[in-house]
Amino acid sequence: MQRFPEGFLWGAATAAHQIEGNNVHSDWWRAEQAGLLPHRSEAACDSWNAWRDDIALLKEIGLNAYRLSLEWARIEPEPGYFDQLAIDTYKAQLEALKEAGIEPLVTLHHFTSPRWLADRGGWSNPDVVPRFVNYAQHVAQHTKDLVRWWVTINEPSILAFKAYLEGSWPPHQPRNLRGYVRLMRHARRGHALVRQVLKASRQDAMVSIAFAIWPLQPVRRWSPIDQAMARLGDWFWQGRIMRRSLPALDWIGVNYYSRTFVGWPWPHNPPTTGEKTDFGWEVYPQGLYDVLLRVGCFNKPVVITENGISDADDDQRADYIVAHLREVHRAILAGVDIRGYMHWTLLDNFEWAEGFEQRFGLATRERELRPSARVYGGIARANAITSRLSAG
Ligand code: FCB
Repeated sequence: MQRFPEGFLWGAATAAHQIEGNNVHSDWWRAEQAGLLPHRSEAACDSWNAWRDDIALLKEIGLNAYRLSLEWARIEPEPGYFDQLAIDTYKAQLEALKEAGIEPLVTLHHFTSPRWLADRGGWSNPDVVPRFVNYAQHVAQHTKDLVRWWVTINEPSILAFKAYLEGSWPPHQPRNLRGYVRLMRHARRGHALVRQVLKASRQDAMVSIAFAIWPLQPVRRWSPIDQAMARLGDWFWQGRIMRRSLPALDWIGVNYYSRTFVGWPWPHNPPTTGEKTDFGWEVYPQGLYDVLLRVGCFNKPVVITENGISDADDDQRADYIVAHLREVHRAILAGVDIRGYMHWTLLDNFEWAEGFEQRFGLATRERELRPSARVYGGIARANAITSRLSAG
């Protein structure tokens, strides 16, 4: 049996645009309507109205934490105009979580931005920094007693890559290296300043970024070119922002899904034959251990802010969860101060450019729990992986 530390946070993670529905003031909604994205989020999971059902699901599974995001485009639909109804709705949600004994981890920016911000160059314009601070100030003022754990920005490296290198996400600017670098810089600066705001409004606030960390490995292990590409790619894409943000991190948020390979020529077929998810991502639990040890060197608390699997028929998810949690436990034994695990995700939702096709949910969009949710809930309730639950 593998026991977890007392008070370990067992949660699920979601993001506003993916579940709330009708996020009409956001850049994503506009791009969806304009046909720039292959799918439309429409009503998503209707969580803007049905959030009580989401909390009921968390309770039913047996979780004591929930990572959710606030939608900037709802809270500030026009520059400088704050929508009180939006704030009140989020407040009611946070109060209900408190009442249910569920610790919230709140993300301020999860990929989507207000349309008006996008019109001004979004994250590539330095003006985003004071705007982001202003938004955070407003949020903090209304929620300070309700939230201790904050994520300022979700996966800046993924957003920068998709938006400015691949160009498949708003603002759809492929090969704009300048945009990429600027987004990363402004995310780092915005984070540091917003952290000060959150800590000024609540002393014990714990503020981080949720970093996407995909171990980058050389396609040909023996090749110095592939090795150099892996190292350089990692530094440019993930290592740099993490290192530079370090002084402004109270803890480290880790989003881990799988590993990726780099080598010359690029792109290429990854040299793996292992199990794949519906998304085509390799199941590679050992990578989570490696990542946790990597961030463990910084001597700060760590929370796995996302880890999960696209698995529509739910025949891999339970094993995936157990295998990854074993790696989490191994990392704890190795001395990493891990405080929690947020499974991605609570319910099937709008998976960005993949629409509703990828099913990452512990529950379906109709909010029916999948069998794997019971396995995860069993672990959370026991605060341990018991031999009865162990996979393999
Ligand atoms: C992460 C995102 C999250 C979700 C998962 C599958 O990169 O943070 O919103 O899309 O991937």
